[in-house]
Amino acid sequence: MSRIYLDHAATTPLLPAAFDAMRPWLSQEYGNPSSLHAEGRRAKDAIDEAREVVSSALGSLFAEVLFTSGGTEAANMAILGVSLNNSDPRRTRVILGAAEHHCVLHTRETLERLGYRVDLAGVDRIGRVDLDSLEDSLGDDVLLVSSMHANNELGTIQPAREVADLAHRWGALYHCDAVQTFLNPVGGSQWKVADLDADVLTISAHKVNGPKGTGAIYIRAGVKLKPLVSGGGQEREMRGGTENTAGIVGFAEAVRLRAKDKISGKAEARDRFLECLDLNGVVLSAPDRRETLAGHLHLRCPGIDAETMLILLDRMGVSASSGAACSSGSIEPSHVLIACGYSPEESKEGLRFTFGWDTRQDEAEEAAGRVNEAKSQILTTRAKQG
Ligand SMILES: Cc1ncc(COP(=O)(O)O)c(C=O)c1O
Repeated sequence: MSRIYLDHAATTPLLPAAFDAMRPWLSQEYGNPSSLHAEGRRAKDAIDEAREVVSSALGSLFAEVLFTSGGTEAANMAILGVSLNNSDPRRTRVILGAAEHHCVLHTRETLERLGYRVDLAGVDRIGRVDLDSLEDSLGDDVLLVSSMHANNELGTIQPAREVADLAHRWGALYHCDAVQTFLNPVGGSQWKVADLDADVLTISAHKVNGPKGTGAIYIRAGVKLKPLVSGGGQEREMRGGTENTAGIVGFAEAVRLRAKDKISGKAEARDRFLECLDLNGVVLSAPDRRETLAGHLHLRCPGIDAETMLILLDRMGVSASSGAACSSGSIEPSHVLIACGYSPEESKEGLRFTFGWDTRQDEAEEAAGRVNEAKSQILTTRAKQG
C-alpha cells in the first residue's frame, strides 16, 4: 500500500533540485559570508543571488528582504521588533488576529511584559477576520495590526488589503503572515507585496518545497525594527549569526522553480478528492472553494474526533492533520475553530487535507476512498458497541 501525503500546509518535501543546489554549500563551499577572502565572497554572492530571487518573487526591493530561520522567527521579529522600536508613547496597543498561527499569538506575553495592551481581532465562522470589529477596535493608540494572508487550518483567504487600509487609516503598521500564501495565487493571480500594502510580511521556505529552518521577512523601506538576535551585524545589522548559506540557496532554488509552476494542479487534486468523498456525515468548514487556498480542504465528521480519524488514516497510509496543536500525544481543541465559534468538542473534530504541487489525481481519488473507508469503519465499530 503506497502512502499518500496530504499535509502540505504542515510541510512539503524538499525539491530534488533545491537539494542539489544546497549540496555544495554543505561541503566544499564552506566559506563564512562575512569573510573577506574568496570562499567568503562566494558565499555572500550566493546569498545575494538568493535575495534577488526571493525579493523578485515578492515584488519587493532587494534590500527589503532579510533571511531568518523560518516563519516563526520572522513573525516574532516583525511583531516584537516593531514594538521594541516604538518611541511614540501614545501607541500602546497591538492587535493580533484571534485565529493567527501560534508564532503570532504567543508574542502576546512578551508584548504585555513590554507594557502593550494586546487585543484580539475576531473572525467569522470560516476564520476570516471581522473587518467591522477590527474597525471598532482600531484607534490612534494602536501601533501594529498582525493578521495573516490565509489561515493555516481552514485555508481561508483573508481580506489583507482591507486590513492594511484600516490599520493605515489610524497610522498603525500592518504585519502580514503570508507563510501559507507565498507563491500561491490568491484570487487567480500571483500577489506581490504592493497588492497587500503590508509594512512587514513573513514567509517560510519549507511550505514551498524548500528546506526547513529557513524563512524571510520583508520590511518595507523606511519601516524600522529593533533586531531580536544581536551579534555580528549580519543581514543589515538586523539579525546576528552566521547565515545558513545552504538553507538560503535551497530556499531560492525552490522559489525559482515553484514560481513557474501552475497552482491549478493543487486545486484539481483537492477538487477530485472532494468529488470522490462520501459527504454523508461530513461538514465542510468553508464550503465555497473560492474563499480558500487552492490546495486546502478542511472538514469535520461531527461526533468523530480528529485524533481517532487521523490515527486510522495513518494506518491506512494517508497522512493528514487536524491543523491544531498536539500536546502529550493528544489533539487539543483548535484555537482557530474556537475563535470561529465552534464548541470545544467540535473544535477537536477538524480534519485538514492539504494538497501539493505534485499531488496526482489518482492519489487524491485513492485517499478519498480511504477516508470513506475509515469513516465507515469507525461508525460500524461504534454501532456494534451500541
Ligand atoms: C501561517 C503560518 N505562519 C507561520 C508558520 C511558521 O513557519 P515555520 O515553520 O517556518 O517557523 C506556519 C507553519 O506552520 C504557518 O502555517
